[in-house]
Amino acid sequence: MKRQKIAAGNWKMHKTLLEGQGLAQEIRTMADSELMNDATLMVFPPFIHLQSLAKQMEGSGIIVGAQNINQFEQGAYTGEVSASMLTSIGVHHTLIGHSERRQYYNETNASCGAKIQTSLKHGITPVYCIGETLEERESNRHFDVVSAQLTEALAGLSNDDIAKCIIAYEPVWAIGTGKTASAEQANEMHIHIRKVLSDISSAETANGISILYGGSVKPDNAQSLFSMSDIDGALIGGAALKARDFLDIAKAF
Ligand code: PGA
Repeated sequence: MKRQKIAAGNWKMHKTLLEGQGLAQEIRTMADSELMNDATLMVFPPFIHLQSLAKQMEGSGIIVGAQNINQFEQGAYTGEVSASMLTSIGVHHTLIGHSERRQYYNETNASCGAKIQTSLKHGITPVYCIGETLEERESNRHFDVVSAQLTEALAGLSNDDIAKCIIAYEPVWAIGTGKTASAEQANEMHIHIRKVLSDISSAETANGISILYGGSVKPDNAQSLFSMSDIDGALIGGAALKARDFLDIAKAF
């Protein structure tokens, strides 16, 4: 099965509205004139820009998604944003479980699992982020940590629902550090992830799921990452804040 190739930009807590609109416009214009392959572009700006950017990107094929979602339908959860709020402004994708949210906002595999279920119920595609810390890799626990992140969050989902997920493998030690996992190291983990997905669903389902790599992806390392058998795209932080770099990464498929 042919998997979707994806270049996704995680803007994190960057850009004012005006700056975000400017970046989105640049990305749209460059994609229109330069992007000749079949890559799907996604941008994940801060919540407060979503409505404006979703409208701005209409008709471009560029997907605008959220960086987080709340697992509850509605209620007394000050500061949170629900699935139906997102779909009501035309947003149908969300990151879930980014390592910064696990680290600073106590997100766990269980809470991520609840968010994934809520997203799927509302027709929102979850981009589920997983990955080990440096200490976990150095103590040779990286495969087990990633297995648990997958099984504890996805357990109980039907094959059809698992098929709707996108996975982003982001080793924590490679995020924002300039240290990328080598293409071989990343691919080794992607193969492991696909095996775990196959065990909890089916080989066919696992083969259809796009698995993105994230962690210091740049124009000069994208091509070697994308040439690997099980790397279907990238979740890009720093380099996604520059339209030129973002597009050069997307063109590297
Ligand atoms: P980075 O961030 O590309 O700046 O390392 C990746 C991410 O956190 O998604």
